[in-house]
Amino acid sequence: MESIHAFEKNHAGTEKLIQRANKSLKNRHDHESTTDDYLNLIRNSEVSCQKLGEVYQKSLSEAYRNKEGIYYTPESIVSSLLDGSVEEVSEKKFCDPCCGSGNFILRAIELGFRPENIVGFDVDPVAVELTKRRMFEKTGYKSKSIYHIDFLEAASELPVGFDYIFTNPPWGKKLSKMKKNLYASIYGAGKSNDSSSLFFFACLKTLNPNGKLGLLLPESFFNISTFEDARIVALNCEIERLVDYKKPFVGLLTRAQAIVLRLRRPNHERQTLCEVNGTRFVRKQNRFSDNPKSIINLFCTPSDTVVLDHIFGKPHLTLSGRAKWGLGIVTGNNKKIVRSFPGDGYIPVYKGADIDTKGLKEPTSFIPEDFSGFQQVAPIELFQAQEKLVYRFISSRLRFYTDANQRFFLNSANMMIPDTDFPLSCAQLADLLNGDLMNWLFIHIYNTHKILRGDLETLPIHADYFEKYHEFEEDTYLDHLGIRKESNGTYRVKT
Ligand SMILES: C[S@@+](CC[C@H](N)C(=O)[O-])C[C@H]1O[C@@H](n2cnc3c(N)ncnc32)[C@H](O)[C@@H]1O
Repeated sequence: MESIHAFEKNHAGTEKLIQRANKSLKNRHDHESTTDDYLNLIRNSEVSCQKLGEVYQKSLSEAYRNKEGIYYTPESIVSSLLDGSVEEVSEKKFCDPCCGSGNFILRAIELGFRPENIVGFDVDPVAVELTKRRMFEKTGYKSKSIYHIDFLEAASELPVGFDYIFTNPPWGKKLSKMKKNLYASIYGAGKSNDSSSLFFFACLKTLNPNGKLGLLLPESFFNISTFEDARIVALNCEIERLVDYKKPFVGLLTRAQAIVLRLRRPNHERQTLCEVNGTRFVRKQNRFSDNPKSIINLFCTPSDTVVLDHIFGKPHLTLSGRAKWGLGIVTGNNKKIVRSFPGDGYIPVYKGADIDTKGLKEPTSFIPEDFSGFQQVAPIELFQAQEKLVYRFISSRLRFYTDANQRFFLNSANMMIPDTDFPLSCAQLADLLNGDLMNWLFIHIYNTHKILRGDLETLPIHADYFEKYHEFEEDTYLDHLGIRKESNGTYRVKT
């Protein structure tokens, strides 16, 4: 097939057209004329449009792509996600509700779906035209079923009817609060109102009973509180596969993970195939429902799960409802307000990076002692408590420290004060939370560097250990739980 480069060479004026299109797309204010340029290019060209999707995508500014969630899925992921294991599909209906340049649709044709049975939607007219054109190139069929329509608006009116829906929906697309709330209420999305989960719910709405849904989603879908309502619904369906695709999108730090499910209730023994780092293993689906917040921790192997079950199966309490929590100070403008040297009217303030498990670094930041102009300050009595636990907000490990000197912290750190009747002292709690097992546990459930109160509140605190041992030690703690550490850093239950 002729490439877009060859096309550019062979057709006078095209290069200019692309340049002009690119230039105005970078600023995307002149949306309509730019779109027209690309539409002309697609409609009039005698060249393959296979590569034009990439050219188009690259021509958009990063800000615009992020705003609209435009990241076309690489071919390797498309063919892995929509894999060859589909049944006889010549009579089945396929849909990509936000088809972009048509990558999933072209794959569906490869797998035997008839072009007449394929439906696509996109709010971007260039994407719609690209998909139609590519379908035509591949099959000679001029589709009238690739619509320039907002799927979130349309899905509630569409009759149920697709057997397969596979796509990579827009993640974190900017939607007004009103629209988010409206779609969340139409589709029953609860608090899961990010565009990716709104698409998840809207897709389910249009999927036939027993139909198959495959979505490429941000990692947060699987492990962040906001998506809990979506996970609960997913876990009520048969989850066939969960796949981790690392970070496939240039310019996006977010990890991409996929879910493939069937719209029918899972039985108790349902096994889910997990694919992580080139390894495949199965997990019992209902095990995910037992996780705090129904977290779908797909990277956790079956033997890790045995350890997690064992730890959570021992008598424990949690910090939920047993502590006061506070955020570090939000000045509103650190650059202007925080300075690096002490002086009259200034007090030392500590950052998250100053917190280490063994102590605090010397302060290198100072703020005015008058807090009245700051954007957000937790109740002062929290900072001034006799003892408080402070911890880094962003960290690859839990880093807690007991501050008994009423120090102040910026919002890269947060604080927590256990209730007076909490059975552990601040020092005991800090040691436990800084420990290796607790860190292993935290990563294997949450797999995040954001240390959030909601997640900390679910960690198991085995208070009875401190009835036996006053000071925390990793070895005696593992003994107490009946667990041993392997040389590769993982844990196993002692038999
Ligand atoms: C992440 S891209 C993926 C495109 C394609 N599914 C793929 O995997 O290559 C998301 C697409 O959703 C489209 N989109 C955004 N909001 C939409 C909406 N409300 N309805 C339909 N399409 C939408 C964007 O224009 C973009 O083409």
